Amino acid sequence: MPRAFIQTFGCQMNAYDTDRMRELLADGGWELVDDAQQADFIILNSCAIREKAEQKLTSAAGRYKAWKKERPDALLAISGCVAQQEGENLLKRAPVVDFTFGPDQIPQLVSLVERARSSRQRFSVTDFTDVESYSFLDAQPQKLPGGAPVTALVTIQKGCDHHCAYCVVPATRGPEVSRPVDEVVREVVRLVEAGAREVTLVGQNVNSYHGVPELGRNGNGFVELLRRVDAVPGLLRLRYTTSHPKDFTPAVARAHAELETLQPYVHLPVQSGSSRTLRRMVREYTREQYLAQIDWLKAACPDVSLSTDIIVGYPGETASDFEETMSLLALVEYDSIYSFEYSPRPDTPALRLRLRDDVPVEEKLGRLQRVQALQAEITGRRLQRWVGRTTRVLVEGEASRGDGRLCGRTPGNEMVNFDAPGLAGAVAGALVDVEITARRAHTLDGRAIAVAVPGTQRTPSRFRRLPVLA
Ligand code: 5AD
Ligand code: SF4
Repeated sequence: MPRAFIQTFGCQMNAYDTDRMRELLADGGWELVDDAQQADFIILNSCAIREKAEQKLTSAAGRYKAWKKERPDALLAISGCVAQQEGENLLKRAPVVDFTFGPDQIPQLVSLVERARSSRQRFSVTDFTDVESYSFLDAQPQKLPGGAPVTALVTIQKGCDHHCAYCVVPATRGPEVSRPVDEVVREVVRLVEAGAREVTLVGQNVNSYHGVPELGRNGNGFVELLRRVDAVPGLLRLRYTTSHPKDFTPAVARAHAELETLQPYVHLPVQSGSSRTLRRMVREYTREQYLAQIDWLKAACPDVSLSTDIIVGYPGETASDFEETMSLLALVEYDSIYSFEYSPRPDTPALRLRLRDDVPVEEKLGRLQRVQALQAEITGRRLQRWVGRTTRVLVEGEASRGDGRLCGRTPGNEMVNFDAPGLAGAVAGALVDVEITARRAHTLDGRAIAVAVPGTQRTPSRFRRLPVLA
């Protein structure tokens, strides 16, 4: 059997696409391997969101030169967002690459490899499928050894109709298409049957989901989708990402209080704390509107964990605009953040508006460091609030440092590494009550005190206490 390997960069959309490509290849007679050196065919599933992400791709492609030399029949392909944007250029820039294809071409993957193998010609395919005829690939967890992961991703939409001035996604993923609600629910059912316990619904802007036909484009399709997925028997936990504050409604905040499986964690990217910068980013909300949404969430769900994305050094960001980002972080008290220096991207409105990347490099870096230092303090405080409390963890597997510990996440998405003596046989997918004993920079430590009795899937009410540790 020929062997294939896929390396994934970027966001959950790419992670989901990688899973589908693995299934297509398995179905097409390929063995999937975890070691690139063993492979006859390698795909680099690329991300274009910032320049650094693109540099990672170029250096990864460079690393495969020696592999290619040793195996003259081997093929290297680039998929994902850089392939969509740079297609032909990539072929010119990187002679090691045999072919490139964009996200909409994934269903054709097996025939593309055949074409590359038989013709020995290099090529690039980056056409978009029309919105009307776009169809989503179904997850087929039974095709892969090991079945579904405990925590699975389910795509609910592709593309994005917003035009945030810094963002490359509309150029790489095209206009927004919502996946029909029945298709999403069927996929969740299949994943749960194949062993998944948690699903995360993924899309670039899940709040504008409109895949419920009877609600059309104006109804609150996303909340209806959450309701229907919540009702899938055997599903323990439901999450979603990413939200856009422009479309985040009070009904979504309330759903966190109403739906049993919907977890108390929301990633709500704010980008900047300054209304002036938000306007110049074309985000279509103000600082005040955003803070009101945070209040809805905290009211609906007092223990909610929050995260966000921050860009520093956007063109024209003044020192006082930046201070507003700092004060917003202090006000909201996120559990974690992802923060970035602005990076000019091709085909973005910011370039078309000729916004000059005018915040000096050292200033950008200084702002990023201040954001990260402040957040490290806040994250520490937020994690500390769990110490001494008992929280329910969905076990994902063994902790990476080994020594017999297990790891999993709390409802608020905090990663916990915990001792679990007396939990022999408890595997990924079990729900365990863990007493939190300490916090680290980004994770929690604890010890298991009770495990859900198998067979009670939905909110297990019977927990077996474990022998108390010395
Ligand atoms: N420069 C820096 N950060 C960016 N992001 C998106 N585009 C850019 C860019 N051009 C960040 C945003 C987004 C996250 C996925 O990446 O914060 O929410
Ligand atoms: Fe990267 Fe955006 Fe593409 Fe995801 S959609 S892979 S974040 S460029």
